[in-house]
Amino acid sequence: ADSLRALAAGINLRIGTAVTPFELDNPAYAQITGDQFDSVTPGNEMKWETVERVQGVYDWSAADRLVTFAQQHGQLVRGHTLVWHNQLPGWLTSGVADGSIDNDELRALLRKHVIDEVTHFKGKIWQWDVANEFFANSWDAHPLPSGINGDNFWVSHLGEGILADVFRWAHEADPKALLVYNDYNIGGEDGTNAKADAVYAWAKSLLAQGVPIDVIGNQGHLDTQYGFSGPRLTAALSRYASLGVKVAITEADVRTFVDNATEQVPTSNLALFAQPYEYVQMLRSCLEVKECISFTVWGFGDANSWVPGWFTGEGYACIYDVNLNPKPAFTDLQHEL
Ligand code: XIL
Repeated sequence: ADSLRALAAGINLRIGTAVTPFELDNPAYAQITGDQFDSVTPGNEMKWETVERVQGVYDWSAADRLVTFAQQHGQLVRGHTLVWHNQLPGWLTSGVADGSIDNDELRALLRKHVIDEVTHFKGKIWQWDVANEFFANSWDAHPLPSGINGDNFWVSHLGEGILADVFRWAHEADPKALLVYNDYNIGGEDGTNAKADAVYAWAKSLLAQGVPIDVIGNQGHLDTQYGFSGPRLTAALSRYASLGVKVAITEADVRTFVDNATEQVPTSNLALFAQPYEYVQMLRSCLEVKECISFTVWGFGDANSWVPGWFTGEGYACIYDVNLNPKPAFTDLQHEL
């Protein structure tokens, strides 16, 4: 049967995966990465803690390796991610904590980081995840009236206006890259539309001020336990698109619980039925909204996924199993394309 990338090429959609260099050291993993996907997102290699572990010393080597792999395999690169509250260098967070970096200097350091990184990769990045995960969830204590999380590291130090600045800086450094605001639960996945409403209103207001936002990226980290509505996601994506931006699914995976006492892999109906169903629903939403330019999974092999390390008792969130055999989620996506 045809590869995902071949099937999607005919409808002008890019099918992507997150990838890290150590995965490419496994020839079987590298083979599938090249065969099935025509877009890649570095899992960690472009994050600030990776590219500037020591202040003032850039190390682009791991990210450059992925960009070279992508070029050799006819793939476009989604840069990930310039401004986030996680995976910041220790020198930065400790400097802020002990007061040796004040807010003026923090702003200058952020500007330099954004401009230097975008400049290094200029012309090689299709979409940049400029800002990642700034909006409050229902459980966050201090949402601002805009719905932005007031406790976010960047917002608490520099104010929510920093978001407009980082998009402008990125645009200045690479005017051709598509600039993405990326977040999770912004497609109504939590069963309410509160976060989606806030992102929509914010994007509308910044676009009206001329801030260069090109894409709204919906991460798509789902869980078979919670249920999920495809039509609700479609509605959220088309509402963003009505603002004149593109949309994308940027980090899809569907995690399941394993009964550690009895199961090696999930055997419940939820895992076996809901997982492929939810993958297909996400892809279908993307297919239904013509402004949806890419559908990216956050890694494709169950042995490599970030999920077991982050969600206790959960795993098996991917479209290939631990032995890199395609799962029902893979074949169902294939059929949907
Ligand atoms: C994850 C990586 O996959 C892990 O290897 C790392 O330990 C933590 O970050 N949302 C994002 C991604 O935007 O950057 C995260 O990636 C997963 C959640």
